[in-house]
Amino acid sequence: MSTVASTRNVVFDEQAFQRDDDRDDAFYYKVDRFVPHLDAEALRVVSSIIDALVTEDRPEVLDLMASWDSHLGDERRAERVVGLGLNRHELDANPALDELIVHDLNRDPTLPFADASFDVVLNTVSVDYLTRPFEVVAEVGRVLRPGGLFLVLFSNRFFPEKVVRVWREASGRERTMIVEEYLRSSERFGPSDNMLVHGRPRPEDDRYAFTGLPSDPIYAVWAERKGEKFGRRRQPPDFDPWFVRDPEELERRKRAAAETRECPYCGDRLRKWAVPQTPFTEWDQEHLYICFNDRCPFLLRGWHAMELQGNRGFSYRLMYNPGNERCMPIPIPSLTAFRESIIDEKTPAD
Ligand SMILES: C[S@@+](CC[C@H](N)C(=O)[O-])C[C@H]1O[C@@H](n2cnc3c(N)ncnc32)[C@H](O)[C@@H]1O
Repeated sequence: MSTVASTRNVVFDEQAFQRDDDRDDAFYYKVDRFVPHLDAEALRVVSSIIDALVTEDRPEVLDLMASWDSHLGDERRAERVVGLGLNRHELDANPALDELIVHDLNRDPTLPFADASFDVVLNTVSVDYLTRPFEVVAEVGRVLRPGGLFLVLFSNRFFPEKVVRVWREASGRERTMIVEEYLRSSERFGPSDNMLVHGRPRPEDDRYAFTGLPSDPIYAVWAERKGEKFGRRRQPPDFDPWFVRDPEELERRKRAAAETRECPYCGDRLRKWAVPQTPFTEWDQEHLYICFNDRCPFLLRGWHAMELQGNRGFSYRLMYNPGNERCMPIPIPSLTAFRESIIDEKTPAD
């Protein structure tokens, strides 16, 4: 373990970088894993972020902890791509790589490259397996050219037995802070930036589509090596097309909810819904209107929003109250909840 880590603070304590399976990584990664580590939509997001943030012409790229896909997109812009990982068969199958190196970073965090050899270092869905991250990040700073980019991408999926404890115990936001802390520990990097993409529809043919959960969230943290060319304009892509800024469009959507019962988020018809009558709840309406589209962005983003409030496993649907002409969220524990009270299966809104 790094001495930096052990003296640092209570987050990076003696157990922070222990794993359930602390055996040699070479043993675990001997098994070929030609599997996608994210759903297809999340993989598209990863490629778009890389594409947008790598602004260099013909960069030399190091894919750190690489496997059979470097997510560099169809259009080849890199001058040279080097992959460093643990499974030779997976690296051999990676069409993006010009060179490959099998090297265990937990045994030896020293990168086998000269100073300032790369313009870009990528690390995709792998940072959570590093037991000596501070040393590895210092090395990344060394092998990057001044102004070069270190981009770390991750999600909420991992091989649990190989992931370090501090990561497993953290939330998504805390994981972003952990990576930022790694970057801050090396004086070679300038301030880091980060983004989260979540709430996008999971592809319909995905094996987990039946859960109704959105596409895997993608977190990105990046920083540049200080020095010449530092401060390049790196603009992350905009993944928030549902966030309406235009006041006229907002007004149009409000009217559509009131007049034609359209969901302001997805445009689907809101369904007339009988308010449950119980002795304990009083509603001023007999009927309300709810968006039951399982791919509505309001619902898809709701899983994450509810989780942040401690309500894991819940989301909400959009509900429109014609009494006060207001929209509000109605929490749901599952996609089937409340469907039994839809009363207008096939008829028009009113
Ligand atoms: C979840 S996979 C991600 C692979 C690839 N970056 C991608 O985006 O598909 C984790 C990768 O980290 C690599 N890895 C794990 N432990 C490592 C270590 N100690 N040293 C070097 N690479 C390691 C493995 O070879 C494996 O391919």
